[in-house]
Amino acid sequence: MQNLPFEFSHGGYIKESTVQQKIALQPPTTEAIDVETDFDYLFPDIARDSNSLLPADNNQDVIKKLKELGDAIIDRQSPEPEDDNSTIPPVYTYWGQFIDHDITANTDRAVTDLQTDITKDDFTPLSPDFVTDNLKNLRRPTFDLDSVYGDGPTLDPKNPTEAKDFYQEDDPVKLKVGQNAKQNANGVPTLGAKIPPESDLSRDLPRNNRIAVIGDSRNDENLIVAQFHTAFLRFHNAVVDWVRQNEPNNAQDNKKLFVRAQTLVRWHYQWLVVNDFLQTVTASKTVDSIFSDGLKFYHPRNGNLFMPLEFSVAAYRFGHSMVRAAYDYNRNFTNQPGALADATFNLLFAFTGRRDIGGPPGPGPSETLPFNWIIEWDRFVDKESAAKRQRNSARKIDTHLALPLSELINEGNKDPKDQDPIQKLLRHLAKRNLLRGYFLSIPTGQSLADKLGIKKLTVEELKQDNSPELNQALEPFLEKTPAWYYVLKESEVRAKGDSLGEVGSRIVAETIIGLIKNDPSSYLNDSEHEDDRDHVWNPSNGVKLPNGSEIRVISDFLKFAGVLPA
Ligand code: HEM
Repeated sequence: MQNLPFEFSHGGYIKESTVQQKIALQPPTTEAIDVETDFDYLFPDIARDSNSLLPADNNQDVIKKLKELGDAIIDRQSPEPEDDNSTIPPVYTYWGQFIDHDITANTDRAVTDLQTDITKDDFTPLSPDFVTDNLKNLRRPTFDLDSVYGDGPTLDPKNPTEAKDFYQEDDPVKLKVGQNAKQNANGVPTLGAKIPPESDLSRDLPRNNRIAVIGDSRNDENLIVAQFHTAFLRFHNAVVDWVRQNEPNNAQDNKKLFVRAQTLVRWHYQWLVVNDFLQTVTASKTVDSIFSDGLKFYHPRNGNLFMPLEFSVAAYRFGHSMVRAAYDYNRNFTNQPGALADATFNLLFAFTGRRDIGGPPGPGPSETLPFNWIIEWDRFVDKESAAKRQRNSARKIDTHLALPLSELINEGNKDPKDQDPIQKLLRHLAKRNLLRGYFLSIPTGQSLADKLGIKKLTVEELKQDNSPELNQALEPFLEKTPAWYYVLKESEVRAKGDSLGEVGSRIVAETIIGLIKNDPSSYLNDSEHEDDRDHVWNPSNGVKLPNGSEIRVISDFLKFAGVLPA
């Protein structure tokens, strides 16, 4: 385990000296579990067939055209279009991001000893062999919540864990939760309404010098994912209380209690990922067919789980198109009458440790999250309102991305005014995704469709309803389409943007179910229950809400965590 805190920042472009300065200023706070696991291609044969890749020879031209395509994918106007609303509530966007941070990291950083990266105008795509030999995933590809637990609490003082700071000193089986501020760092009282229950001010990430003390600092990248991580901390602690009360045999000593609580949290999470998250974001019947007919594509390699690059670098980045430029966040920050201000993307990215929790463009730094920014989850979870109200839905999964995703305020050197081309590129998510796919030799959408046995998108479908600008930028890629664009377009034309299409659904569901199914400690392999989908562990074997209800959808989870009124 490294001694220094490892700060996950998308892109890894923080200068070494900046990290060293931060370390000198504050004690280690942001730690991740120190692992390196394998990335590999789900379809190694097509990744090694040049016919299935974008051309590698005239690379400078391809790079230029990918950048044009990236530009054309971004909204032109603000506020965002009124007709880009899916039937998916916005919690699924950030739940999706939370899942990404639990299982995959590092596709956006320099590969060992590599002198080039996507910021160069003339980079050459890496050969698949080089990628799999040198690029390592800095996450365990299992749904074990290492982003929440790190390597666990210190229960034996002789064997301290790296993650000991994540856990409460007086009750080390519980995770620390942060307290909300009532005033900013200059003593200016926080304005706005309190969020019910008003006395509950334990709704922030634990922080040290404003930096979140959690297993993956990417979960403090924006306020919604940070509040989602906070819900996990609270859910774990509520499960500990539940076990103490309902299963005294499992609470006899701290080790037994922690293992039991952690297992329950993981299994509830995994069950919800399969039965709520995947059922919502993938095409209907995808999940059921994998359970009835078995996994067709994801199988461990040499006995090891691996993270498919087609998932991390293309298909699973579908979530970027669901991100909104502004939300109905809570009673203080929304576009409704009487609000203090709108919950714009830039504000949601300002109230994080990366931006001094309210530093520019916010009202001024605070030590922890002010109480007026506690999220009201009821605005994020309801499928009925999602279908009716723009702000209560995720954007459609389609080839249109919100404008602020081309000006990410927490990426690059964080100075939005810096016009240096490298900094501008780092703040532009659509360009980064497309260039990353090229750099890491991700097969085209058409070759993935062929491999999966799914009817390819026609040229007409690839161009359907596109602006003239987008179609012009797409022209060079009509035969060989970057996988990320293809997955978004497939969703748009074949599923109305309300779920992934078939190629996207298959890659995402095969990977996620494949990882859970092949993890011996997952709920699907619980030895106490039969190995049969109807009889494996399920929420009837887990914790219950005070009214006896089971945890079957994400809103039940948030209720049990005490962050959504029951
Ligand atoms: C506000 C929202 C988000 C922002 C600002 C954001 C930003 C980023 C950035 C800057 C990268 C690195 C890009 C590169 O250079 O390769 C990235 C990677 C990624 N993002 Fe997002 N993202 C967001 C939400 C999401 C969501 C909702 C999902 C999925 C549902 C997602 C999935 C991924 C994946 C899979 C990666 C690759 C991770 C790896 O390195 O393995 N992101 N994101």
